[in-house]
Amino acid sequence: INAPDLSHSNLFGRHVLVTAGPTHEPIDPVRYIANRSSGKQGFAIAAAAARAGAKVTLVAGPVALPTPPGVTRIDVETAREMFAAVEDALPADVAIMVAAVADWRAADEAPQKLKKDGTGLPHPLALAENPDILATLGASNRRPGLLIGFAAETEKVVEHATAKRAKKNADWIVANDVSGNVMGGERNTIHLVTATGVESWPDMPKADVAARLIERIADELAGG
Ligand code: C5P
Repeated sequence: INAPDLSHSNLFGRHVLVTAGPTHEPIDPVRYIANRSSGKQGFAIAAAAARAGAKVTLVAGPVALPTPPGVTRIDVETAREMFAAVEDALPADVAIMVAAVADWRAADEAPQKLKKDGTGLPHPLALAENPDILATLGASNRRPGLLIGFAAETEKVVEHATAKRAKKNADWIVANDVSGNVMGGERNTIHLVTATGVESWPDMPKADVAARLIERIADELAGG
């Protein structure tokens, strides 16, 4: 009698961890390596998870977006800071790694602004590889029960996403074709790559991608 309507709180009691945005990798005090990620898709997913009743931790790279209601936000700048914040936020029932983490950082951050030296030769920039947060979680004994990665690709989208799913030991990969103006835009066209196959969703607003993904996650946690 009078059972509560849980249709909009189906992630109640779950901890959902989301990474979003780009990372900035400093070269010197005034310059950094970055990418075109706006954070919009990740923030929309965090918002949708909170609306579904989850406890949400959003680890955000440098973006100018408001914190969605009910979301605990941790701001970071670099990939290594993002990694540390993710580890601090564990355990999680679900992790959705939406961030466009920089693959490389400057091997050494110069303490002073680099100057042209008058030779006409550019200053060499040595790179070091950043930790792969998703792959590390995939191999960890603290791996979230449902681990979801994103794959931004400009070609062979599903093929690359399928390979990424295996390589990083993720349960799902949300592949998006970023050859158009997806990065910074309001819409997204995605292919959801799971253990059982590929679902291609029609082009839709990022908020709708988020709502539908959260619905799929709730179904999965409920046992299919
Ligand atoms: O290998 P690639 O960068 O295309 O993989 C994308 C997926 O891996 C995304 O889910 C992204 O958040 C995650 N990733 C990560 N740490 C990295 C690189 C990517 O968590 N250093």
